[in-house]
Amino acid sequence: MTPKLILTGFMATGKTSVGPLVAKRLGWEFVDVDTVIAARAGKPIAQIFADHGEAHFRRLEREAVAHLTSDRRRCPNCHGPHPEVISTGGGVLVDESNCAALKRVGVIVCLTARPEVIAARVERSKAKRPKLTEGGKSTLDRIKELMEERADAYARADVHIDSSDLTVEQLAERIIAAFGEHAARRVLPSAQRCVPSA
Ligand code: S3P
Repeated sequence: MTPKLILTGFMATGKTSVGPLVAKRLGWEFVDVDTVIAARAGKPIAQIFADHGEAHFRRLEREAVAHLTSDRRRCPNCHGPHPEVISTGGGVLVDESNCAALKRVGVIVCLTARPEVIAARVERSKAKRPKLTEGGKSTLDRIKELMEERADAYARADVHIDSSDLTVEQLAERIIAAFGEHAARRVLPSAQRCVPSA
């Protein structure tokens, strides 16, 4: 059985750029949890936070995770779970039920980066990140604070990869290799044809 590849990690660690590339290289489908939430709500994530608050967003996030992890489609080759790369928002693992559901269907790959690298990426990007504007701190201080708060949640992932000094292509390669190694330990040898070689 080939598990799904779940990509998570702090904001601006590269999930959005690398996720579609990883999916393309594996020939798998790509789905982004935040895109699913925004489509279902009919508004962007930052607007959901502004109109309804974080608790409401987290409810929508739990619903989206529950929906994506109860996917009954099967892989035509190994008859395991439908092969898919699922990219999540940076706060998804904070909720233990999300983490358990994602672990049940996949290998969780958590991207990390140095706080200074994240701050520089955030300053360059146009994406609105409501969690980083809370508390009136500098972006760097807020990143450090939130990273510390979430350290235990991120530690629950199966694999950790630091994207600070990697190109998107290098990052994709590392993710696929680490996933292959980890997935191979969780599958039956007879069904390994769907697991990418490390
Ligand atoms: C969040 C990260 C965001 C998005 C929401 C909350 C978080 O996704 O889900 O703004 O709590 O870390 P990205 O990590 O893709 O920016």
